[in-house]
Amino acid sequence: MSSDAPPPLGERISGLFEPAQLMIWAMSHYFRVCTEAVFQKGQVLAPLLQTGRLRDEAFGRFWIEFSSTPARTAAIEPNSEDEANNAPVGSSALIPPLLKTASGVVLDIGPGTGTQMPLLRSPAIKAIYGAEPCAGLHAELRKKAASEGLAEKYTILPCGVAAAELVPALADVGVDVDSGGVFDTILCVRVLCSVPEMERTVRELYRLLKPGGRLLITEHVVNPWRTAKGSLAGRLAQAVYQFLGWSWYIGDCHLDRDTEKVLRVAAEGDGGWESMQLDRCFEWSAMPYLSGTLVKKSG
Ligand SMILES: C[S@@+](CC[C@H](N)C(=O)[O-])C[C@H]1O[C@@H](n2cnc3c(N)ncnc32)[C@H](O)[C@@H]1O
Repeated sequence: MSSDAPPPLGERISGLFEPAQLMIWAMSHYFRVCTEAVFQKGQVLAPLLQTGRLRDEAFGRFWIEFSSTPARTAAIEPNSEDEANNAPVGSSALIPPLLKTASGVVLDIGPGTGTQMPLLRSPAIKAIYGAEPCAGLHAELRKKAASEGLAEKYTILPCGVAAAELVPALADVGVDVDSGGVFDTILCVRVLCSVPEMERTVRELYRLLKPGGRLLITEHVVNPWRTAKGSLAGRLAQAVYQFLGWSWYIGDCHLDRDTEKVLRVAAEGDGGWESMQLDRCFEWSAMPYLSGTLVKKSG
């Protein structure tokens, strides 16, 4: 299903440059972190030998800054005039209606700084486990859980989503997934673009869902340029950004993943998902979005 009509040409063209702004922003953090390592800390070889650590630190700083921009926070419900001025825009507006449906035991993949936490205050949610590998974001995440009154419910797992890391991290906090799915809801908000081996990761997440459990996703995806609503310019822009190092500077993010296909395949062993309600937006741009709910068969 596809919902949005393309904006006027001028807006479509400027939209193609939006990722460039993000990339320059992230690059500036990366170069700052490298400069600090060399000139302030005397770690002359760090930009060559410790790229993983420096990229992680730079991405953490970038994401803290990015996610504190009011229009990006995505979590504010515009129920007063003042808040309406800060209402989420663009892809961020896709998130609140989706996350409001989260319930039970929730696994939040790559929560970042916890921008979505205000949407997770429902009493229908019993516990939330946030798997966040970027250590530089944990302090913000913890702060956010406390300020949203979720400190008791929210457990930070210092790991990535790959089962080899996630399963032991869950076991450490008393959640045993060996016997099957334990999560009522799994949240993937702007994170499947960054995980290594997306096919395997999504299959592993599928296994962690309880029967009848729901995967809620909002992800930017490859531009479907061969379809009527897709855009060749959007697809070319994605290729150019990838070539210029998008993934390097933006925490391993990929602009060109066919996430819908991978989601479909993940449930094939069980004869497919019980239901898949996916909406596509911004298909004219370099960051088209896929958003919606996938329900695992109950038995
Ligand atoms: C673009 S940010 C999105 C953060 C948050 N979900 C939001 O929408 O505000 C991507 C997040 O995924 C995290 N991430 C990257 N690779 C990951 C992995 N393999 N497993 C879990 N999280 C990962 C990053 O550290 C980052 O916090």
